[in-house]
Amino acid sequence: MTDPKVKQFDLQVFRHNPDQLKLNEDQNEILNLKKEKNAVILCHNYQIDQIQQVADYIGDSLGLARQAAETNADIIVFCGVHFMAETAKILNPQKKVLLPDLDAGCSLSDSCPAKQLEDYKNKNPDTYVVAYVNCSADVKALSDVICTSGNAVQIVNQIPADKEILFVPDQNLGQWVTAQTGRPMKLWPGSCYAHVLFTKESIERCRLEFPNAPVVAHPECIESVRDLADEVCSTEKMVTFCKNNSAETFIILTETGMMHRLTRELPDKAFVAGPTGHCACNDCRFMKMNTLPKLLDCLRNETPEITLQPSTIDKAKLPIAKMLQWS
Ligand code: 13P
Ligand code: SF4
Repeated sequence: MTDPKVKQFDLQVFRHNPDQLKLNEDQNEILNLKKEKNAVILCHNYQIDQIQQVADYIGDSLGLARQAAETNADIIVFCGVHFMAETAKILNPQKKVLLPDLDAGCSLSDSCPAKQLEDYKNKNPDTYVVAYVNCSADVKALSDVICTSGNAVQIVNQIPADKEILFVPDQNLGQWVTAQTGRPMKLWPGSCYAHVLFTKESIERCRLEFPNAPVVAHPECIESVRDLADEVCSTEKMVTFCKNNSAETFIILTETGMMHRLTRELPDKAFVAGPTGHCACNDCRFMKMNTLPKLLDCLRNETPEITLQPSTIDKAKLPIAKMLQWS
């Protein structure tokens, strides 16, 4: 019987499509410009397929930060959102870091303005601030350590027991980390506008159609959704989980761009995009601001560029370096 609260629509099942591997003219020009300018394209798993196809590295926030820390390229073109490109700039202050669309922001990052965090710290000076990487450079500069969804449990486990922790800005990730570590933390009331659209009802409906498919959820999902999942993990770990699991079909609860990475890496498996209460897909409007024409212009003109105050870079690089050291 169908739940009357859940709108009925066809679910989206993604499978490998070899035709998509043929590059078009713009993509070939991007590859040529990249070589000519000694540029590297770092790409998040949520980017459109055509951008993923021309990237040097595709991964989650942790993998991208590690790549940014190690690259020898002169120019970093970051295909992701603003806070990710800022992290690359903090790690490479001397390099040119480009983002195809500077308006590609993040609702989570926006939910924690640096001024509010500063006020909180002034009132609670002993607080130890753990900042999820989805925050601005100014918030990072006010934090003790950064984490990503891929290492948050590992990072929190290393914080001395006598510290009172404030976790910013994602309350859902923070709540999940507390459940994994047993470590109580004060949670900033932020959330990802896209991941909170998955509901218990929408996922239960999906499971009725695919009863044997393991459910893999990002920790930014709400608790009642995470509770339905067989695995809760970062986008990179989703690839490893699906690779190591013998199932042929998986229900994936994260942004829809993830399906491109999964189908390319695991061509024999199928991936059902987790539906929200009203749609079969769940695109992040910020991630999707980067398009192939914008990427091409960005490489041709070497703009728009990420710029940060040197004092912000100096402060923000310390908690990022701590994260890279601890994970
Ligand atoms: P990952 O680090 O797991 O890729 O997550 C980034 C993100 O923005 C999730 O919405
Ligand atoms: Fe931010 Fe959510 Fe988009 Fe990730 S999916 S970049 S957390 S708004």
